[in-house]
Amino acid sequence: MTHNPSVALLGAGIMGAAMGRNILAAGHELRVWNRTAEKARPLADGGAVLAADPADAVRGADVVITMLGDASHVLAVMERAADGLAAGQVWAQMTTAGIEQDQALAFAAAHGTHFVDAPVSGTRQPAEQGQLLVLAAGSPEARTIVQPVFDAVGRATRWVADDAADLPASRLKLVLNSWVLAVTAGAAEAVALARGLGVDPKAFLDVVSGGPLDQPYLRAKAAAILAEEWTPAFSVANAAKDADLIAAAAADAGLRLDVAAAAGARMRRAVEAGHGDADMAANYLVSFEQ
Ligand SMILES: NC(=O)c1ccc[n+]([C@@H]2O[C@H](COP(=O)([O-])OP(=O)(O)OC[C@H]3O[C@@H](n4cnc5c(N)ncnc54)[C@H](OP(=O)(O)O)[C@@H]3O)[C@@H](O)[C@H]2O)c1
Repeated sequence: MTHNPSVALLGAGIMGAAMGRNILAAGHELRVWNRTAEKARPLADGGAVLAADPADAVRGADVVITMLGDASHVLAVMERAADGLAAGQVWAQMTTAGIEQDQALAFAAAHGTHFVDAPVSGTRQPAEQGQLLVLAAGSPEARTIVQPVFDAVGRATRWVADDAADLPASRLKLVLNSWVLAVTAGAAEAVALARGLGVDPKAFLDVVSGGPLDQPYLRAKAAAILAEEWTPAFSVANAAKDADLIAAAAADAGLRLDVAAAAGARMRRAVEAGHGDADMAANYLVSFEQ
């Protein structure tokens, strides 16, 4: 059993960089690679080794984490890592990549790596505080190895199955994000409607305050909108990507989800309007464009 597994982190964006800091703080050896090397540099100041390429990052690591934008990045980066992989390594795939990951699963099997389906719930701040909720599926052997790493980045791990093949954790993540999208688009539209109707948005928040319609996520997104604070916790571009993943999964399941489709269209419109890198609360801005 590996008590203090060494880690290779592929991806140092908003989430990866925050997770990397907590992995270092928990005392794991960390090698990190990011397409844009400057973003990984602060982790080097904290003791991580910056790898020149993905293969260099994963060589000798007990656990490989992918925290990239989408499934296509994951596959492309892991293909670049292939030379450094060895049978028996655990691959924790933490990117929100949906349920079309057949190529990643086949890649893992071909290289003898233990694939753990492990998307996360929680955004920038919980990631920085090591308070993510890790949703995970993987073999008991892989669990034993990867658990200390999940403990470093999260407040808890919700193991949903022993078999990652059907991506049960990614399925749960899509369900969760359909809710996130509905609330975020709904919060933005309620504030926009208030403004359009000459109602003080704070009056809306006062009316729901403390009742069954109130909720922390509405508060957080409404506060960001009212302050015009668009620093991304979760970008509009990633929200649009998740809406597409939800739509594809729903269509495969024979479902028609109108709210998810509308939220996706709204997020894509926000990307086209130049807000892709802003926080997804910025979908508010497209309320005022015809
Ligand atoms: N932020 C959140 O609240 C949150 C919460 C839960 C889950 N997630 C999910 O976690 C994942 C990462 O999110 P994030 O917020 O950290 O996103 P992000 O800040 O946009 O980071 C994306 C990462 O993917 C890399 N990347 C993008 N395109 C690439 C390509 N073609 N080849 C190689 N690398 C590429 C980026 O590299 P560069 O730095 O070079 O661009 C960066 O490391 C996403 O799947 C997201 O949906 C996010």
